[in-house]
Amino acid sequence: MVRDILLTKTSKDWASAVLKDFDLFLLDHAACERKAAALAMSFVVKYPDRSKLILPMVSLAREELLHFNQVYRILEKKNLTLPPKDYKDSYVNDIISQLRHGRDERFLDRLITSAMIEARGHERLHIIAEAIEDEQLSTFYKRLAKEEEGHYKVFINIARQYFDDDVVEKRQDELLLVEKEACEKTPITFKLH
Ligand SMILES: [Fe+2]
Ligand SMILES: [Fe+2]
Repeated sequence: MVRDILLTKTSKDWASAVLKDFDLFLLDHAACERKAAALAMSFVVKYPDRSKLILPMVSLAREELLHFNQVYRILEKKNLTLPPKDYKDSYVNDIISQLRHGRDERFLDRLITSAMIEARGHERLHIIAEAIEDEQLSTFYKRLAKEEEGHYKVFINIARQYFDDDVVEKRQDELLLVEKEACEKTPITFKLH
């Protein structure tokens, strides 16, 4: 299971916080899917010469955009309108603040942190799928969690094509600690992260 890579498990209180404010969770989840699609495309924009990432990132962007489309349909059924501004994402901001400078270093850090954020998303969608009583929504989140499971590897596989395995592993160990701290520090709310 890809979520076992992470050093810490999501708090048990998180699922209750989400179920209490499920409409807000849906709005935030939609934003996360939209941002995941944009993030994948940002690799294409920032690294057009790194040809091994183009097709995997375009496929990922398409899949994330499809997820956004699917979550948006749920929002529509519930008469929910997208908020004018995304909720503040201190978890992602804390992680991004640890990216190194230098073209190669930043490239590697971006790939690894994107992989970790995907792994956390996968873990949490799985938790929601198990916690939610509505059968249709539970089936939807189960399928989504399954699809998110592979996303961690998409980023790590690209990293391994551009860097030696030991370089990737060493930085992955360091950034897993950063992810753990960011996860534990972020207040428990309805937000996906
Ligand atoms: Fe997604
Ligand atoms: Fe994803």
